[in-house]
Amino acid sequence: MVKQHVEGLLAFGVTHVPSAAASPAVLGRAGQGRDAKTERLARLAEEVERCRRCPLYRTRTHAVVSDGTPQARLMFVGEAPGRDEDLQGKPFVGAAGQLLTKMIVAMGLRRDAVYICNVLKDRPPNNRTPLPEEVEACRPFLDTQIDVVAPQVICTLGAVATKALLGPYVSITKIRGEVREYRGVRLVPTFHPAYLLRNPPAKKFAWADLKKVKQLLEEQ
Ligand code: URA
Repeated sequence: MVKQHVEGLLAFGVTHVPSAAASPAVLGRAGQGRDAKTERLARLAEEVERCRRCPLYRTRTHAVVSDGTPQARLMFVGEAPGRDEDLQGKPFVGAAGQLLTKMIVAMGLRRDAVYICNVLKDRPPNNRTPLPEEVEACRPFLDTQIDVVAPQVICTLGAVATKALLGPYVSITKIRGEVREYRGVRLVPTFHPAYLLRNPPAKKFAWADLKKVKQLLEEQ
């Protein structure tokens, strides 16, 4: 078990993990607004279930809204549910999700101490890239998630999420690791874990970006 954990960290290019003392930095102030946030997000999940703003509801198995805690100070935003996520109704549970979990652990955090969601809440058929009109139809849900959770830092995963929040002309390879802003929240783009699975040498850049995220959290 421990061996596996260490191997996972090494696979992500991590040779040093900060002590568990770093975790509370990611949790919100004890209990503050917890019930209101949880209730608002539960209502949002019901709205997503009823949503007919684009045709993706017709082909989904489950809508995929979020994982983690509404108390999080760090929010990860991915692209859209894939096959595993559609089947389980939970974001980032497939191979890319397992790498994301390793990335979170490598930061010295726990997956259940952050908030994880996607730009799209329903899976596009065959995992095709989300269409601009699907992104716009789903944007109010993401904006509400950001406003309710009110994280200190958003980390966008990959080009689709980064363009959705920063505009269509940004390039993930150019701006990854830079500190930008969306809805008054500081945002750091990094590579998508699915890309990192295909291009392991890029993990060192993602690790640099995650260290930047951690630094921003520790500044607060
Ligand atoms: N890729 C994403 O962007 N989101 C998921 O939830 C899973 C894979």
